[in-house]
Amino acid sequence: MKLIFLGPPGAGKGTLAVKAVEILNIPHISTGAIFRSAIADQSLLGLKVKAIIDAGKLVDDETTIELVKERLVRDDVKTGSILDGFPRTIPQAEALAAFSEADKVVNFDIPDSSVLERLGGRRVCRKCGHNFHVIFDNPKKEGICDYCGGEVYTRDDDKAEAVQKRLEVYRTQTAPLIEFYRNRGILVDVDARPAVDEVVENFKKALGRS
Ligand code: AP5
Ligand code: MG
Repeated sequence: MKLIFLGPPGAGKGTLAVKAVEILNIPHISTGAIFRSAIADQSLLGLKVKAIIDAGKLVDDETTIELVKERLVRDDVKTGSILDGFPRTIPQAEALAAFSEADKVVNFDIPDSSVLERLGGRRVCRKCGHNFHVIFDNPKKEGICDYCGGEVYTRDDDKAEAVQKRLEVYRTQTAPLIEFYRNRGILVDVDARPAVDEVVENFKKALGRS
């Protein structure tokens, strides 16, 4: 099954994707995670995108589309994939449709107030990328990942100014994709407000798998 996870920053796309991988046994492809790993490696791509991401703006369509195209030719996506954070603009969605049409687009339905609470408390493992939260899912040992022992840090784009920019970018450039995919008849809405286990159940229901 080819899935797209669509929703505002901090909606819980990455958190649900980890659970969805266990349920559906298909790879999770997060463009944000690929960019963060390039930044950590100080690769050419990382150097190009760091300032853009830290400011909460979008990387240009050409670079992002090329990255996803290259990823979607690998063998492990033959049975499907979860695209998390791509597409994020109408040109990206049109480009994707030309080389790999999605079966379903999961729209994370959540108000700004919850988004701000989730992003304000998010902490991320530098090594394995696991998402923690200071209230909802705190690491057992302060600053250390429960799963790999890596350092747990605050993403640079979770600072207040960048969060406001990301929300604005979401509203103007990404939210129009809701109608784009609704018109294609493949959009399913998932109530992303409750606790993680309940969101997982909402997701399964939306896919007809509960
Ligand atoms: P990306 O990494 O995709 O960031 P984002 O879309 O802003 O989304 P987040 O990762 O911030 O949130 P999420 O929905 O995954 O929530 P999470 O599960 O972490 O992109 C980063 C940047 O890369 C972009 O700003 C852009 O610059 C660039 N980029 C990426 N893709 C691009 C593209 N296609 N085009 C151009 N540029 C692109 O959850 C958030 C917090 O809430 C966590 O702390 C978690 O523990 C907690 N939480 C999650 N679910 C729940 C729950 N149900 N209850 C309580 N807490 C919860
Ligand atoms: Mg994410």
